[in-house]
Amino acid sequence: MHVLSTLHRPPEMDARPFKDWPSSFAIALARLDEWYQEGKPFFTKNDLEDLSNQLNRRYPTRRTNAQRRLIAVKGLTGSVVLYSDLTGQIIPNQGPNEEWAVKSPYVRYVCYEKLKEVLRKPNANIVEAFYPMQIDHLMLRRAINTKKPLTPKWAECPEPVEQYLKQHLESWKKTTEYHKLEKILKLFKHDITKVINLGSGWMEFGMGLEEFSRCATQHALTIVLYQLLQKKTNNTIKHYAQDPAYTAVDILALSLHGCEVLEDPQALIEIDDDSVVFACCPGFPLKDITTDIARPAMLIWDQVHERFGARSQNPNSPRVREMIAAHYDCHRFWDQDPQHPAPFKSDLVVYIRRRK
Ligand SMILES: C[S@@+](CC[C@H](N)C(=O)[O-])C[C@H]1O[C@@H](n2cnc3c(N)ncnc32)[C@H](O)[C@@H]1O
Repeated sequence: MHVLSTLHRPPEMDARPFKDWPSSFAIALARLDEWYQEGKPFFTKNDLEDLSNQLNRRYPTRRTNAQRRLIAVKGLTGSVVLYSDLTGQIIPNQGPNEEWAVKSPYVRYVCYEKLKEVLRKPNANIVEAFYPMQIDHLMLRRAINTKKPLTPKWAECPEPVEQYLKQHLESWKKTTEYHKLEKILKLFKHDITKVINLGSGWMEFGMGLEEFSRCATQHALTIVLYQLLQKKTNNTIKHYAQDPAYTAVDILALSLHGCEVLEDPQALIEIDDDSVVFACCPGFPLKDITTDIARPAMLIWDQVHERFGARSQNPNSPRVREMIAAHYDCHRFWDQDPQHPAPFKSDLVVYIRRRK
């Protein structure tokens, strides 16, 4: 398996939303501030559902015009831009003996702060100023003459994934962190219906041993959590996971433990007040998306700090900080044993929604 890159192309120019086109970058930035301060959601379930139906082709909503398949994305003003689905295209002459083979569309989630950051760059495209969801494509860089990939190969997990995950399940139950989490669960009185694991990464391939272990540990954590919560409540609980990187082998290994893998953005649509949401360093602004769509009963997240985290792909925006301060109690459980540090350094904490 080779490393895939992402390719971004602006929306189709014949789809310009002329009505509400910002006439300058200063105006675009001011409107974003205004909407954010008014509490306007940047991500909504309706928009996620609409995109999910187009990308996962539940019914033929994808517009076509003669040769092109188009993906319609709604922005903050309600206007729609159309992105061409470039799947299957070859983009020639990208370097000496290099071409790009486009694989599939990929949602790029751009939160408020990141929309502003992009608009301040010299090559900014004002067309996408009001679009927190945009379309990228996954693509492979390859040689023109041999058609072989030019990118490095991901390393393959040294053991069968099923076994690797099983081992992590067993070893995780012996850790201080597991016992801490068990204790925290005693304080948890909400009825929940689902555990949702986001961006925990693939287990079949990785860049090094530590990475395989991180991903297996994170999946082990939510599998165990799901089992504990299932015992504790009388509800039937669902366990979902989403990461566009999963392979068929990862999906099978997870299914053996009752975890159903959903296509992006279906797991985001599942987030509601009766869910537990887990994510460690996800590669997209999950904190902002969650804050706009629900107040989940429990969040196991990288801690929300006062500092924004400008370089993070999942920053702590003011709206996220407000939600945490107003509705959640924080419990530490990770990296608590000075003798035996947790399997990987991270800032994971448990947030439990306060009862009214
Ligand atoms: C920095 S890696 C972190 C992986 C793992 N959680 C860890 O701590 O090692 C970011 C992960 O987010 C995933 N990701 C990116 N976009 C996503 C999306 N829309 N939904 C779910 N996962 C996503 C990537 O595929 C990748 O596995």
